[in-house]
Amino acid sequence: MARVDPAVVAEIKARLRIEDLVGRYVRLRRVGQRLVGPCPFHQETKPSFSVNPEQGLYYCFGCQAAGDIIEFYRAFHGLDFMDAVVALAEEAGVNLTLASGRAKGSSRKRLLEMQLLAVQAFREALAGSAGTAAREYMEQRGISRAVADAFALGFAPARWDFLWRALRRAGFSAEEAVQGGLVTPTPKGGVYDRFRGRLMFPIWNLTGQVIAFGGRALGEDGGPKYLNSPETPLFTKGDHLYGLFQARRAVGAEGRVLLTEGYVDVLTLHQFGFPASCGVLGTALTPEQVHRLAGFTRHVDLVLDGDAAGRKAACRSAEMLLAQGLSCAVMELPDGEDVDSFLRRYGAAALEDIRTRAVDGVDYCAAWVRAQHHPAEAVAWAVGFLRGIKRLDLQAYFLPRIAGALGLAEQELRQAVASGGGRGAAARTHAPSVTSQRDRELLAVAIWFPQRHKDLEALDFEAALGTERGRALWRKLCGQPAETVLPRLDAGEKAFYVQTQMQATHVDIEASWESVCAWLRRRRQQQTFAEVQSALAAAQQRGDRSEELRLLAILSRLQLQ
Ligand code: UTP
Ligand code: MN
Repeated sequence: MARVDPAVVAEIKARLRIEDLVGRYVRLRRVGQRLVGPCPFHQETKPSFSVNPEQGLYYCFGCQAAGDIIEFYRAFHGLDFMDAVVALAEEAGVNLTLASGRAKGSSRKRLLEMQLLAVQAFREALAGSAGTAAREYMEQRGISRAVADAFALGFAPARWDFLWRALRRAGFSAEEAVQGGLVTPTPKGGVYDRFRGRLMFPIWNLTGQVIAFGGRALGEDGGPKYLNSPETPLFTKGDHLYGLFQARRAVGAEGRVLLTEGYVDVLTLHQFGFPASCGVLGTALTPEQVHRLAGFTRHVDLVLDGDAAGRKAACRSAEMLLAQGLSCAVMELPDGEDVDSFLRRYGAAALEDIRTRAVDGVDYCAAWVRAQHHPAEAVAWAVGFLRGIKRLDLQAYFLPRIAGALGLAEQELRQAVASGGGRGAAARTHAPSVTSQRDRELLAVAIWFPQRHKDLEALDFEAALGTERGRALWRKLCGQPAETVLPRLDAGEKAFYVQTQMQATHVDIEASWESVCAWLRRRRQQQTFAEVQSALAAAQQRGDRSEELRLLAILSRLQLQ
């Protein structure tokens, strides 16, 4: 992740009030020190969302969404941390000094301008005489004008230098055009258009900037069916969802999203009255994409192709969504249909019907695993799935359901998850094992007193934490200024961190500090005591009388302390 100067974050927080920002989107009312309202991150009417202006933090008791002003802006708009900082800094008039990270301001801006120019050139070509075949193709596929406009479809003529000439005329260098992914370099030092003879689909980020393209061949000949932009400073494969920019308002309003596979599938969904739809673009769903979706909604309906590959992809996607705390359901299409062909054949009502019969994600995965695998593999899957769930409350919620669906004994599954065995044990060392009340108490003190981390380290704080999850959080906190902690935390950690911060006003944190330090000291003494005792036993066994006396003296001193 790119670095931001903590001073920039502190300055943003000093200038902007969290209650003002949140108040733009949520009706807040005051209750004591806090402001409360309905949570914008999940569907509800109860005021379980709470903002503490004094601490600059928010927390939802319903869905555990939690964070500070930057996290709110980031999650609400589905941005990454850096984009949120940039937008808020601009609003607050704070001068950004980015220590490192993304492409320098000017070249990023140039790359974006180039994509925009390409959109315009492709749209003009689609409308003009060169675009006849492409327009016919769109008509034959039934893509409406309204949808083509909303998604800014265009056409790249079958020429080697159509776009390159336009770019050069606008003052872009060959090097820039290559960096923007729009042209391909030749061995002789020239360049030629990457997209030729294709219907062009611009890909937007959530700020509404075009960052890449997909292009579909009009016929069956001439290279791959779809060609996408390569990875560029603007575009990382698997980071974005096609159509989410166009869908974001509808997704927020409906509180759910329809997730499908391809470009045309997304267009057809929008055209047939499903505006809360977006697509993964031919790759497996990534954690980054799930993260983006989670900024808008808590529920995903998956509608993937009705074939074996589609079903497998549905399982993988469901696993990933569930593991990150979203709910999902799988809509099953008839064999051989994708959502585009289905809608055109049977219509919107039929798809709505399939949606109402969608299978809950957990049940779908379990049924698929049961059908595909031997019992031993099913157990391994269950263990791997449960270990992949970072939030322990969710893990506890899923365990009995998975056990039930696969016909496993709950207790045994619980033990298998807690112990070392099972699929992916090595790869998942960061997965939680137990949530311990003691770790929570210890970490709370670390959260309340960031300036005293040295004291904690001196008392072997890390070794005193009982769970890997706890130690992982400590390593993220240790020695970090509060401004830089939140963006490093996962959703579960954020909830814990913010909840703990908010408690600070109504618990005696100094008393907690004292009792934790006393406990840490006692723990160290006990360890020393145990070590001396075992050395004593060894000395007695050897018959080393003088060592025995020396150790006994140490023991009695320790006992007196
Ligand atoms: P499909 O092969 O299922 O095609 O690829 P589709 O979406 O039904 O395409 P149409 O209806 O024939 O136009 C699904 C998605 O996988 C990606 C594209 O994003 C596509 O929409 N894909 C597919 C590629 O990136 N490259 C390819 O060559 C094929
Ligand atoms: Mn299709």
